[in-house]
Amino acid sequence: MTRQSHSETNAVRGARDLEKRNGPLATPIYQTSTFEVVDNEEQLRVTPTDHFYTRYGNPTNTVAEKTIAALEGMDAALTFASGMGAITTTIMALLKSGDHVVAQRDIYGGANKFLAQWLPKMGIETTFVDTTRYEQHERAIRPNTKLLYLESPTNPTLRVIDFKRVASLAKQRGVLSMIDSTFGTPINQHPAEYGIDLVMHSGTKYLAGHSDLICGVIAAQQELIDQIWATRTTLGNCMDPHASWVLIRGMKTLPVRVARQNENAQRVAEFLSEHAKVRSVNYPFLKSHPQHDVARRQMSGGGGMVSFEVEGTGEDARRVSEAMRLFTLAPSLGSVESLVSIPVLTSHAMISAEDRARMGVTEQLIRLSVGIENVEDLIADLDHALQAVASPQKVTVG
Ligand SMILES: Cc1ncc(COP(=O)(O)O)c(C=O)c1O
Repeated sequence: MTRQSHSETNAVRGARDLEKRNGPLATPIYQTSTFEVVDNEEQLRVTPTDHFYTRYGNPTNTVAEKTIAALEGMDAALTFASGMGAITTTIMALLKSGDHVVAQRDIYGGANKFLAQWLPKMGIETTFVDTTRYEQHERAIRPNTKLLYLESPTNPTLRVIDFKRVASLAKQRGVLSMIDSTFGTPINQHPAEYGIDLVMHSGTKYLAGHSDLICGVIAAQQELIDQIWATRTTLGNCMDPHASWVLIRGMKTLPVRVARQNENAQRVAEFLSEHAKVRSVNYPFLKSHPQHDVARRQMSGGGGMVSFEVEGTGEDARRVSEAMRLFTLAPSLGSVESLVSIPVLTSHAMISAEDRARMGVTEQLIRLSVGIENVEDLIADLDHALQAVASPQKVTVG
């Protein structure tokens, strides 16, 4: 399936039956665990539908799922209790003991932990490869490899992978490809158009967009979704209908939020790259970015995430993050309000210092999730906070 309408339309109207009249304009919350039937024949008929039992499906969840499928240009989508729920359930649904995964080295810390520490308990091994060294991806594929696990742009270093190359490699070698597209959003990139099989998001971030719920989503062709659905019902990793409703409301403004975040983050990245107290800046749409050409080709915006290293120590980075007033010190990302975090203490705290060093996740690295506030105010906040590098006594925190 290809995307039928533009993203702005899909986000607002994606799951609505435009023929239907005299119904509620806003999606009702089916706050129910179960659905009654008139007889047992009907009971059997509704079992695989969203009118049976909410762990299997729920009409409010269906609206969220259809909207996501439309945004990604896929047959179908599923929602989960968290982004990690989407990752773990999908992999457990599609792989079995004896299978092998090839994964990029630069991925979200929780996904790294699941692949490196949990899957071996189930007899599934993962080989980690350098994110943009595609010959390593190719060499790592074995006869028992079932999955190429990808993330782009990466958390927190903003590396960008070439969708065309990885999707064609996976197709040639008969391996499924799955991407964590959280940083990319369904507005800035459409991995399915390049042939990536499974597109995952931590819906907690940009899709919901207001730091008020935890959820995960996966979009794919129907056959894969059916397998993942069966596993989700067994593992019980479903989303609550009320949370789905919050997600649906959030997604309606996704395109306008992301457009503003793209603009703001571009300005923030340009400001930081000229600042004397900044050693390096990671942002896909900066000319200095190592995959700038690929990013411009496959993304319509550089996204709202920027990371940078301070010209100083880990202590300096902590001080800068604490000196910010508008950028709030908190993990997570993708929301309307700007957030700041130190990846070695948050998103990548659970992986070894050695692996972090290989990823380029240093103690000096600061991650910004740029929100929709006035960009001049955001830049002034950063300018003020950067005074904390090597001259802490001059900074007024508060
Ligand atoms: C890129 C990325 N993927 C997945 C996750 C996990 O999502 P959740 O926290 O919704 O489980 C996160 C969380 O920070 C993330 O940043």
